[in-house]
Amino acid sequence: MKKVIVINKKIKFFKKKSINVDGDKSLSIRFILLSSLSKGKCIASNLLRSGDVNSTINSMKKLGIKIKVKNGYCEVNGKGLFGLKFKKNLVLDSENSGTTARLILAMLSYSNHWVKVIGDKSLKKRDMGRVIKPLKLFGLKFKNNNTKLPLWIKGPKILKSIKYNENLGSAQCKSAMMIAALRANGKTKLKCLPSRNHTELMFKNVLKIPIKLKKENGFEIIEIEGMNEFNKFNYKIPGDISSASFFIVLTLLSKKNDLMIKNINVNPSRIGIIKILNMMGAKIRILKKKNYKGESTANIFIRSNRNLRGINLNSKLNSSAIDEFLLIFLVAGVCKGISTFKNLSELNKKESKRLDWGIKILKMMNIKTKRIKNDGVKIWGNPNLKLNKSYVIKNFLKDHRIFMVSTIAALTLGGKWKINDANCFKTSFPKYLDILNSLGAKYK
Ligand code: S3P
Repeated sequence: MKKVIVINKKIKFFKKKSINVDGDKSLSIRFILLSSLSKGKCIASNLLRSGDVNSTINSMKKLGIKIKVKNGYCEVNGKGLFGLKFKKNLVLDSENSGTTARLILAMLSYSNHWVKVIGDKSLKKRDMGRVIKPLKLFGLKFKNNNTKLPLWIKGPKILKSIKYNENLGSAQCKSAMMIAALRANGKTKLKCLPSRNHTELMFKNVLKIPIKLKKENGFEIIEIEGMNEFNKFNYKIPGDISSASFFIVLTLLSKKNDLMIKNINVNPSRIGIIKILNMMGAKIRILKKKNYKGESTANIFIRSNRNLRGINLNSKLNSSAIDEFLLIFLVAGVCKGISTFKNLSELNKKESKRLDWGIKILKMMNIKTKRIKNDGVKIWGNPNLKLNKSYVIKNFLKDHRIFMVSTIAALTLGGKWKINDANCFKTSFPKYLDILNSLGAKYK
């Protein structure tokens, strides 16, 4: 197991390459959870085999669900809405995955014993209060008033339907409520700030659950009729735009390269990074777009281009790029002009404090930044930036995206970088280093 990776050479020419990244993390986790609640054998192809998805699979296996996985092929034997088995003293480990933890709490709604949910050092710091509050309204019981892991949970067989306003724009919170709504009597009505809509699309187009979706004054209105069992289903998981984004920025900031990234989920609630980089002058193209069970898939084409300008970002785009801000800050650091990003309090609630880390990395590179309130930043881009010092990235709570963004900075901007916890990319993107190798990246 590599502890530290050293990069002291920029990436060279890889002109006209085409790559496939790993399967989408959000869709892979949702597939495992929802197929477990279906009636029958479900099959997925291109399932992501990362730490976060493995923790979801292991948790469902402990709940009595038979799951077979071989490479990306995955078979789940769903047992219906009430088919999970709750043994005594059950402990489920979500490891590093916020999505697994928050969604699984809702899955446990009818256990008659306390089930303990735990996580790693990073996950233990994250707020679970945002899901505990609505789940209590559904009728779930929590052992104490903790809002962080470990948590103990149990609940009645049938839940009460609720009306709830979700004001964080959190897809995890929305999805946890939607899963609880499956076992609730009557109609659950949710009014949510926009966030990725994969759960809605699966409910509607794959599981065919009675659901109404509409948009009203900037909110998403979701109505779900509970207590409807659903049939087995198959799902082809497209590539993850969040993983593709590292290669989009690698290509953009390197010299004279172009890259095709194939079969990526380009759901409009996820492509903020493409919209934002294009507003900065990037000219990224979305090609051969297709509809797949309500999701959109496409190839993404990108050319090197350092002729970029700063952006004053409208916060409405924040949620559709929420996992990509470290990369966006990096680009803002080397483009012409000043960039401004606001209302990003959610960023400091991720696997690590990503707003603080984004600023810290730019400061290390001698890029001028200024905090705006507690949740924003102004970045003075330097298009002539050339790095020649030593940079050490450590103590970042093994946040996979901090690791990967640091490698992109090193491979495109120069300097000598020592980046710790060199295994943590496997949380979300196990093929990451293999793809870098195939493009000719050099590291030790
Ligand atoms: C996710 C939602 C987002 C995102 C995370 C995955 C999901 O989190 O950051 O990586 O699959 O629902 P929030 O719901 O907390 O915004």
